[in-house]
Amino acid sequence: MRSEPSGAGPGRRKPLISGNWKMHHTHLEAIQVVQKLSYRLRPADYGAVDVSVHPPFTGLRSIQTLLDADRIPISLGAQNCHWEDQGAFTGEISAAMLAKLTVAYVIVGHSERRQLFAEDDAAVARKLGAVMRHSMTPILCVGETLEEREAGSAQTKVESQVEAALDGVSADQVGALVVAYEPIWAIGTGRTATAEDAQTMCAAVRSVVARVAGDGPAGAVRVQYGGSVNVTNIAELMAQPDVDGALVGGASLDPDTFARIVQYREDG
Ligand code: 13P
Repeated sequence: MRSEPSGAGPGRRKPLISGNWKMHHTHLEAIQVVQKLSYRLRPADYGAVDVSVHPPFTGLRSIQTLLDADRIPISLGAQNCHWEDQGAFTGEISAAMLAKLTVAYVIVGHSERRQLFAEDDAAVARKLGAVMRHSMTPILCVGETLEEREAGSAQTKVESQVEAALDGVSADQVGALVVAYEPIWAIGTGRTATAEDAQTMCAAVRSVVARVAGDGPAGAVRVQYGGSVNVTNIAELMAQPDVDGALVGGASLDPDTFARIVQYREDG
């Protein structure tokens, strides 16, 4: 049964809609996308929704400069980091380096990292700790495979991923977290979870947080849904009481489309 954390009612948490660009957009393209996005978003949009963009590492510095110079209230995000601050780790980027670029959010444990780059729960937990140590907000990704869903173990899988990542995180830090529930079978497939399934799983994530850290952090933690989010399904997903935002892949690459997703309140 779902426990109902105190203070966890709808409307209490400001939604966060994040664009995970994955390995798309050169730094020059990234600048154009953010400029166009900023032309389309209005103060009321930023008032209602926090927005972050997560370019590849090569775009971070350019986007940081643009956001600063034009005072654009979009938050800068990264897609991954290493847990050590520095060292002999060829090809890696540390959380310390990202913090210096005024990165606000760092995605950790994306399923593509877990599946294609063999990141296990222990590595994800260390990355999460590094992001918090540098005063940035982790976006912890969790989600089940199609086989796990069909076997009826989706909730168990996701709960165990959240528990493993939160091991060692203090209760007061947990409330500042963002967790993204991203069913692997919905990523890049055009097949979205139903709003009911998204709600059930996001509520399950919140229940784990309540168990691990208490009702206060559970009421504060923001839980995003990710997996084939687009302009037609965003409003229904966002209407769910435990869905506090979206982690958007493909549909965030185009600034017009991503702006309409951020403006989901008007599209329905
Ligand atoms: P899509 O929106 O392309 O399905 O990707 C979701 C995702 O993986 C975001 O992190």
